[in-house]
Amino acid sequence: MKGKKDVYTASLGLVGAAIGLGNLWRFPYMVGKNGGGAFLIVYISFVVLLGVPLMLGEFILGRSSHNSIVGAFKRFTPGTPWYLAGGLGILTSSLILSFYGVVGGWSLKFFYLSSTNAFLGKNSQELGDIFNKFISSPVDPIFWQVLFMLITALVLISKIEGSMEKITKIMMPMLFLIIMVLCMKALVLPEIGNGMAFFLKPDFSKITAGGIQAAMGQAFFSLSIGMGVLITYGSFMKSDENLLISTLHVIGTDTLVAFLIGVIVFPVAFTYGIEPGSGPGLVFTALSSLFNDIPGGYGLGVMFFLLLFLAALTTAISLLESVVTCLTNQCKLSRNTSVFTAMVLITILGAVTSLSLGIWRDTNLFYILDYVTVDVFLPIIAMLISLYLGYVLELKVMEEEMANDGVKFKYTKILQNMLKFVCPVIIGSVLLIGLILN
Ligand code: TRP
Repeated sequence: MKGKKDVYTASLGLVGAAIGLGNLWRFPYMVGKNGGGAFLIVYISFVVLLGVPLMLGEFILGRSSHNSIVGAFKRFTPGTPWYLAGGLGILTSSLILSFYGVVGGWSLKFFYLSSTNAFLGKNSQELGDIFNKFISSPVDPIFWQVLFMLITALVLISKIEGSMEKITKIMMPMLFLIIMVLCMKALVLPEIGNGMAFFLKPDFSKITAGGIQAAMGQAFFSLSIGMGVLITYGSFMKSDENLLISTLHVIGTDTLVAFLIGVIVFPVAFTYGIEPGSGPGLVFTALSSLFNDIPGGYGLGVMFFLLLFLAALTTAISLLESVVTCLTNQCKLSRNTSVFTAMVLITILGAVTSLSLGIWRDTNLFYILDYVTVDVFLPIIAMLISLYLGYVLELKVMEEEMANDGVKFKYTKILQNMLKFVCPVIIGSVLLIGLILN
């Protein structure tokens, strides 16, 4: 039984890291911005075609090398420049964490506002204004961002990092519960038909090359592919853990959460007259409008924004952890120095991106950084990892990792071919067409 329990906790930690703002904030925002149902179909196709083989591949690399992304490349191919791909992964994690911290700050602010009942009596228009005024003001969002980053860093240097797992264990079922309750509420809203049609009925005329690229980036972002974090998690996995089952567990949970958030957000947006393509405020404005209008909305609102914050926090912790581990191992810095250095630099960059939503609007930095990291860097690293697994890593290593209880996995060759041909070709063409036509 012990083995079973370990497997459970390993993938639970992973689910806690994977489910975050990517599912709860970025997914509905991207679906809304890119025209709805067609985006959803393209997104799910990428999750299946690219997400499954790449996540398996990262786990294989991690567990067979017992190492992080940089270490794994150095171990299997010493003296070659492959480890630079790992460096790009760490750089991308840092850049992503910079704006992740900003949005994490928004979640904290909305938790605060909802608990002080600040939304009471406001309509969706006014709530949208509150959100836009908040994110474009120079000081307020930075205050919350710094607070969010400080909490993240404090968890890393204190001894409570291990107890974050306990928080995840409580948080995940609560998140599911509140999502289910909100789904029930959404299902009886007057505009359920139009909201669901927008989310589920594909209109392929609405999707552009940029939209397809955004769907691919979102799939990588939400599944945490292409930053090496899965490689690190893989290195902690027990030798008897079934990699395919863990992969399907993480991907299934992550995709289900994103999907259910869509089932809530779009009917709500249509009911309260919120434009689905209105941008990064979509979840915040839509849900606070709903909480204002339903019985028990106060409690649900406080709970939802608290869970949003906690989901963002557990994710930010793993992002910062991977940057810090790299700094301590590769630059030989002490742990506290690494946490401090990484936190300060990332927070400063984040503050600049926050200002680009207000007084430095002309720079567009927030959107540019989001685009470059998620839609360009993640696919590039994912492609490198795919090519590495397909062409460089020996099939024998893959076979060993995929075997369970000494029983050979029948489809290892198919997996290798997916990583050799299918993934690189899809990623390469989507990226190229997206970059050219954007
Ligand atoms: N998947 C996370 C989310 O949905 C974001 C993320 C991307 C991440 N890469 C990561 C989290 C690496 C932890 C580690 O919010």
